[in-house]
Amino acid sequence: MSRIAVIPGDGIGPEVITQAVKVLQALGGVELHHLPWGADHYLATSETVPAGGHDLLRSFDAILIGALGDPRVPDNRHARDILLGTRFELDLYVNYRPVRLLDARLCPLKDRTPADVDFVVLRENTEGLYVGVGGRFKAGTSDEIAVQEEINTYKGVHRIVRHAFEVARTRTRRAVCMADKSNAMQEGHALWQRVFREVSAEYPDVSARHLYIDALAMMLVQDPRQFDVIVTNNLFGDIITDIGGALQGGLGMAASANLHPGKTSMFEPVHGSAPPLAGRDEANPIGAILSVALMLDTLGRRDDAGRINRAVESAVLDGAMTRDVGGKLGTIAAGDAILQRLT
Ligand code: NAD
Ligand code: IPM
Ligand code: MN
Repeated sequence: MSRIAVIPGDGIGPEVITQAVKVLQALGGVELHHLPWGADHYLATSETVPAGGHDLLRSFDAILIGALGDPRVPDNRHARDILLGTRFELDLYVNYRPVRLLDARLCPLKDRTPADVDFVVLRENTEGLYVGVGGRFKAGTSDEIAVQEEINTYKGVHRIVRHAFEVARTRTRRAVCMADKSNAMQEGHALWQRVFREVSAEYPDVSARHLYIDALAMMLVQDPRQFDVIVTNNLFGDIITDIGGALQGGLGMAASANLHPGKTSMFEPVHGSAPPLAGRDEANPIGAILSVALMLDTLGRRDDAGRINRAVESAVLDGAMTRDVGGKLGTIAAGDAILQRLT
């Protein structure tokens, strides 16, 4: 029995998480603990993460989280503490974001088939521009100075690059592409260059290639087939995984895992809280449901993860989906369609 913390979050978060939980409960073997952290809780209590909250999360086997973001919290403070805070506090340094096209009809690129879009992005998840090192001076005046530093450490870059090579070894094509902006960011990204050279030399069986992130963004749209494993920093990984979402049919299709191998990890759809969609039974639950598959895989339940993946693929091929991906179903019916296909 695995103990799972469930944080439904804001906006469409609770709607897609309800569907993901339905699938998880159908497979069994889990004890779910609901945590109400999010915008409503913050606005009612002024508390983002309760005292000891990250330690509480560490006591679970895994965490399932919807999305955080609410127009009533314009500085996004609660999301910083709950989502980014958990990535940092639990040291979830791998953001694993698979990009797999399930049906040619979903791809916005012409004449592409599932064979053309099958790669994984490994996004560094604990450093970069996200750490909040910086500050503002003379804020609100015409002399305002705003500084936000990008942090790159040898340890941080090394562990995500090494993980990328390890993941590549589990895949058929065994090809890693590292993307940075070392032509412009000559200090911080020289470290990425050095680490990439060092680590790639240890993996002669994996092909290693470097691209600047701007060129990679263009090639993702022009010729996604060339990519197998992409490793990059926190911000670039955030941006290119939204492109990855689009390549799969839309953000609602994209799943992710925030991992520290061997420790409590957190699973979430790539999309946000989509406030305009909230409460309308329109949100696509597939990204959340596929995130449950990533969770079960990480917990060692590969067969059950495969059952979810096959059920989702079957629903997609039958067109039993929400409107954002060309179907006619609401969120709940789309969840049911997947549930019915679990074999
Ligand atoms: P978003 O992902 O919420 O929405 C972007 C677009 O994708 C919108 O058109 C939306 O309708 C569509 N979309 C997203 N998820 C969908 C789904 N499941 N089904 C159908 N369509 C879907 O991004 P945004 O609008 O930039 O951000 C809204 C809020 O979410 C902000 O507060 C942002 O900070 C937050 N956010 C949170 C997370 C997270 O918690 N993981 C991720 C991204 C954005
Ligand atoms: C994501 C989101 C978050 C990020 C936001 C909500 C802080 O966009 O998980 O992709 O930038 O990491
Ligand atoms: Mn994002």
